[in-house]
Amino acid sequence: MSIVNDITLYDSEFVLIQKLIFKNVGITLDESKKSLVKNRLMKRLNFYGLSKFSDYLRIAQFNRDEASEMINQITTNETYFFREQVHFDFLQDIVKQVKADEMLRVWSAATSLGAEAYSIAMVLDSILGDSRYEVFATDINTEVLQIAKKGCYPLSWADKISNAYKQSYCLKGKNQYDKQFLINHELQKNVYFSQANLLEVQSEIGRFDIIFLRNVLIYFNDEIKALVIENVIKNLKNSGYLIISLTENLRNINNRMLKQVDTSIYQKVQI
Ligand SMILES: C[S@@+](CC[C@H](N)C(=O)[O-])C[C@H]1O[C@@H](n2cnc3c(N)ncnc32)[C@H](O)[C@@H]1O
Repeated sequence: MSIVNDITLYDSEFVLIQKLIFKNVGITLDESKKSLVKNRLMKRLNFYGLSKFSDYLRIAQFNRDEASEMINQITTNETYFFREQVHFDFLQDIVKQVKADEMLRVWSAATSLGAEAYSIAMVLDSILGDSRYEVFATDINTEVLQIAKKGCYPLSWADKISNAYKQSYCLKGKNQYDKQFLINHELQKNVYFSQANLLEVQSEIGRFDIIFLRNVLIYFNDEIKALVIENVIKNLKNSGYLIISLTENLRNINNRMLKQVDTSIYQKVQI
């Protein structure tokens, strides 16, 4: 099959993609994203041997699996270990206050490749031991979740992990894996990965003491942001904490159940 690189993405086709992505994921793709979207979806056209976006969109519109593949291509998954260190310092302070007979549940709600979830697990494990916490990690993108579940990363990703955590939780690869490291099995078994769409209420996953919802709100307009916040805090225990990114804000989101306690950190209050 020949690989085609130069296919026109017509405005009407881009509008359809904008609508599909907004409806399914809540992400607003503005005009400036057109060529990025085109480049990312070319892979899928080549997969089917198609030479027109209209033909591809007919598949993506009516086939759930292809809609999911399309979402995998469009979402931005940048992440790294111990991103925004202040949040992990805050987490450490909270964990130190956990009583001996208590269990802590943390949700990494747009986890991407798992670096956030495993960073959280390292902090919890080092203080609580491996039987008193649970990290639940979700994302809409099925491809990143597959990678996250393997827990295997390029060695350069370990740069921000402290030596103590590296020693306790990371295994350096050998031979053909010498440029990679693996999160050890003991830590992996306390981190559960599953697909979840933030536009939907997650009634099955229970309540959490802390929810990390970082670097995802930036992709949403205010209306979707408010919906996502309303959804996720249903899974937050009273007095539990919601952590967003330092580069995000809830300025236009009037949620009376959240009290800001620090930059990018909110606490659920009873009303
Ligand atoms: C930039 S990454 C952030 C990863 C991590 N939280 C961090 O701060 O490093 C954003 C993630 O949000 C996910 N995402 C976007 N829209 C979503 C939705 N509606 N439901 C669940 N996840 C979504 C994307 O797939 C992507 O992996």
